[in-house]
Amino acid sequence: MRSKEGSGGLALPRHVAIIMDGNGRWAKQQGLPRTEGHHRGARSVREVVACARELGVPFLTLYAFSVENWGRPVAEVSTLMSLLQEFLFNELPLMLKHGIRLRVIGETSAMPPAVRGVLASTLAATEKNTDMTLTLGLSYAGRNEIVRAARKIAEEAARGELNPADVTEEAFSGHLDTSYMPDPDLIIRTSGEVRISNFLLWQSAYAEFVFTDVLWPDFGKAEFILALEEFSRRNRRFGLTGEQVWPQGAR
Ligand code: IPE
Ligand code: IPE
Ligand code: MG
Repeated sequence: MRSKEGSGGLALPRHVAIIMDGNGRWAKQQGLPRTEGHHRGARSVREVVACARELGVPFLTLYAFSVENWGRPVAEVSTLMSLLQEFLFNELPLMLKHGIRLRVIGETSAMPPAVRGVLASTLAATEKNTDMTLTLGLSYAGRNEIVRAARKIAEEAARGELNPADVTEEAFSGHLDTSYMPDPDLIIRTSGEVRISNFLLWQSAYAEFVFTDVLWPDFGKAEFILALEEFSRRNRRFGLTGEQVWPQGAR
């Protein structure tokens, strides 16, 4: 039930997903505006992406902006949108150099046209890369995704393309935004909050969770490796007994 060993001997998860939280509180602690926290948070993104790529994690998913985040003050939303645009533009050469394929989950039609433009060109430019898949959750919410999948299934059934008896878990997964990736093995949340906040609700059924008090702008390579080490100590049984999963000796 463990994935292959990566460099450094860690039993690496195939898919790590991160709820990047605490930018605002980091800024407040420093006496800075919230937007400064988001700027610093972008640095953490860069560092964690580079580290995941270096270690050989095949799928990394980052929750960057939720459907609920649209309710924040207009100025903060617009800073986040500009930062995203900047990030996509600036990181393209590195993504190409390191073989990173960018994907996106969420209702991206809600994003401003400028972001959609740079997003479309980055997705296209990195499409053929195979070393790591970096997915951004943009205007993403798990319930919203599940409802959109259910709607697609209903439409296919109404057109006679899908038999209701064929709506299996696999078929349902295939209609989610995440259809191209395995379920997350590890979900990390920073900033001390212990909740899922509408992230990967369907996909997290058997994920391991690591919660850390570190605020996202302070989260870097060292903290990421600590979370991976914590993951490698977990015993995943998937409903079975320890003896079934490890016949050579129970853990
Ligand atoms: C995470 O940090 C970034 C986004 C949700 C976009 P926050 O902005 O939520 O920071 P806190 O939780 O207010 O500290
Ligand atoms: C979750 O963070 C969303 C992202 C990280 C994009 P929030 O800061 O929005 O979560 P809540 O509202 O505190 O649960
Ligand atoms: Mg928050």
